[in-house]
Amino acid sequence: MRKPLIIANWKSNPLTLKEAVVLARSAEKYSKIFRGADVVVAPPFLFISAVSKILRQAKLGAQDVFWAEGPYTGEISLRQLKNLGVRYVIVGHSSLRMTLGETDEMVNKKIKKNSLKGVKKSQLERVVVAYEPVWAISTMPGAQVDTPQSAVRALRYLRGILSRMYGKKYADKVKMLYGGSVSAKNARQFLILPGVDGALVGGASLRPQEFGEIISQASAF
Ligand code: 13P
Repeated sequence: MRKPLIIANWKSNPLTLKEAVVLARSAEKYSKIFRGADVVVAPPFLFISAVSKILRQAKLGAQDVFWAEGPYTGEISLRQLKNLGVRYVIVGHSSLRMTLGETDEMVNKKIKKNSLKGVKKSQLERVVVAYEPVWAISTMPGAQVDTPQSAVRALRYLRGILSRMYGKKYADKVKMLYGGSVSAKNARQFLILPGVDGALVGGASLRPQEFGEIISQASAF
């Protein structure tokens, strides 16, 4: 199995810089203790600069990126993120589609315009795909974690699409994550699955000890 990847998506949390610093320090602490997992922390843009000064072992992520540089009010470019040490960017999250009407075309632009000639086969090891059923996201009314069987099926389906596009050898380089109500209680049942390379964690990444527990479980694989 590949080294598991655990991504913390803080979404629009926390409310203060002080809390963000506490969360980042904790994520960094657990990443240092449990080095068997790669950890990425994606804070809101507001706190990226402060969090960048705290993370060393854990990598810095961003929750979105715009497809161009220039006079775009409120938008952030890839170069700006890179200059702050951002290594991962989440694009196409369902919350942007639902609340801001982000379309497939917009997501496509964010990926294509930000890499010189689109994603090349050899770069696929830098691509991470997260299967995150909308109804499983903890903040959705009546949210329920997916079943392991369903997650395996969905990820196999997604890898099949990539295989047809790039060939199996290259498709296998892409890391695939499960996301949606991941907690310290259920993380293991997903991390253990064939074809699951880690987890995209929302709510539980805002609870320092629980997030540490998830990192520790991932590190044990
Ligand atoms: P929860 O872990 O809170 O369900 O959030 C999942 C998510 O949307 C992460 O991107």
